[in-house]
Amino acid sequence: MQPIQRIAILTSGGDAPGMNAAVRAATRAALARGWQMHGVRNGYAGLMEGVFEPLQARDVGGIIQRGGTVLGSARAPEFATEAGRARALDNLRQRGIEALIVIGGNGSQSGANVLAHAGLPVVGIASTVDNDLAGTDVTIGVDTAVNITVDAIDRLRTTGTSHKRAFLVETMGRNCGYIALMAGIAGGAEVIVVPECEIEPHEVAERLRAAYQRGKTHAMVVVAEGARCGAKAIMQHVAEHRDTIGFALRVTTLGHVVRGGVPTAADRVLATRLGAAAVDQLARGMPNVLVGLRGNEIVATPLAKIAGKTKGIDQDLLALARVLAQ
Ligand code: F6P
Repeated sequence: MQPIQRIAILTSGGDAPGMNAAVRAATRAALARGWQMHGVRNGYAGLMEGVFEPLQARDVGGIIQRGGTVLGSARAPEFATEAGRARALDNLRQRGIEALIVIGGNGSQSGANVLAHAGLPVVGIASTVDNDLAGTDVTIGVDTAVNITVDAIDRLRTTGTSHKRAFLVETMGRNCGYIALMAGIAGGAEVIVVPECEIEPHEVAERLRAAYQRGKTHAMVVVAEGARCGAKAIMQHVAEHRDTIGFALRVTTLGHVVRGGVPTAADRVLATRLGAAAVDQLARGMPNVLVGLRGNEIVATPLAKIAGKTKGIDQDLLALARVLAQ
């Protein structure tokens, strides 16, 4: 393999707090090796449209603490077509760009895998608030998302206690219950509802009733957006059985709030390590992998192994949360 001279970087899919720290680290690590770095605007959409800009060290200054992504992101369904991908590869070739770093979650890394199969050296960086990517224990953004959800739970508990009410908080995560589980544990939730272990509205109601009877002054239900037993079904059931449950129930849907704001220190450090590791993989001539974290070690997993795969949540933690809700 010829020594690398020029690479590109993009952020794709839903933005995640910490993406900017990864762009900064990868850019400066590449520049330190004497390579040129090009930022692609708006993910795969910009790759297909050919919207690139050279990145220097100063261009990525003052962004480590900023949420979102300075490169912009997009959902780009056209990239799933052969014609779209051919345009993207052509744009890279025309600019003499020899390798690509893709910061994103599941769909984005599947796209990276397709590019790798087409012969482009690619390294993926695990980044999504959902933390559902195989090949890593944690993804960039999830720590911030969990902390935002915990903050909401803490705030709702104060008003819940004042009014002796129950609150239901719905948080993001697509089909993964990780944010709900971790925030539910850290926030001391009475009930955690996740898609990986479905429960019925009457079971939620039963746990609220039991909490009321044990003399609790509030109760928190944390629901992952992907759970079949969602906010609407639970609200309806509780409204119909209000007199036997004790608590009144109010709903707060956090939605995109969990993706916004400044990244936590943990997300900035993770993103910095993964950004530098992605450049390292290219420098060692070992592309076509996803860089992630196992324990506290950076690991590289072939994109072909993780593409289209999701990981589950820790069922033991879910069981523990239930015991601690007593
Ligand atoms: O994948 C990240 C995520 O925030 C999911 O948790 C959520 O289901 C989805 O993206 C929302 O997508 P969009 O930002 O396109 O509305």
